[in-house]
Amino acid sequence: MSRVVILDHPLIKHKLTFIRDRNTGSKEFRELVKEVSMLMAYEVTRDLPLVEIEIDTPVTRTKSKIISGKKLGIVPILRAGLGMVDGMLNLLPAAKVGHVGLYRDPNTLKPVEYYSKLPQDVEERDLIVLDPMLATGGSAVAAIDFLKGKNPNSIKLVTLIAAPEGIDAMERAHPDIDIYVANIDERLDDDAYIVPGLGDAGDRLFGTK
Ligand code: PRP
Ligand code: URA
Repeated sequence: MSRVVILDHPLIKHKLTFIRDRNTGSKEFRELVKEVSMLMAYEVTRDLPLVEIEIDTPVTRTKSKIISGKKLGIVPILRAGLGMVDGMLNLLPAAKVGHVGLYRDPNTLKPVEYYSKLPQDVEERDLIVLDPMLATGGSAVAAIDFLKGKNPNSIKLVTLIAAPEGIDAMERAHPDIDIYVANIDERLDDDAYIVPGLGDAGDRLFGTK
């Protein structure tokens, strides 16, 4: 079974309300998605291994901990995952960024792949896959199918809003992958949009509708 971690910190809940609001314009939407992603990065990296080093404070020599050279890869699913990259990079500046381009065909609702570019040493990296919406789950399942074929060290999925259907699809296809989500909403509507959701994440980020 996937571990589903709901990140319901008050700051995340507060910002998610304004992300959902239809009256929030693209500029503010982008800023809020970035801020929530940064807050999520804090929890997603909770299990990073530490090593002890020796340093000199102004007062004395002491032992203290730093993150032990873990190689991370941030992989947004295009387009909407791009909105989450900068927030993650703020906390994880040494991470490399790969891209997987998928869109959901509006008629079949099946994901169509159109682009991918990953760090050369992907096999040594722990990947954090970003997509603000997990609706039917088709896009995330396909992206993770593709990434598993590249043999990374590990994969986690980070999403802002999930439908129960998307969580179920991920658990069926990829029970080994942990999912970090700010909220699990009620359901999908007849067009497979998440209810209440936030609408079309890509369009709201980039102002394309
Ligand atoms: C959105 C979203 C996910 C996908 C979720 O992308 O960013 O990738 O839909 O739906 P699913 O779980 O049913 O697959 P979209 O296909 O609209 O492409 P875009 O990001 O380029 O707008
Ligand atoms: N993709 C989106 O951007 N929003 C949804 O609600 C579902 C899929």
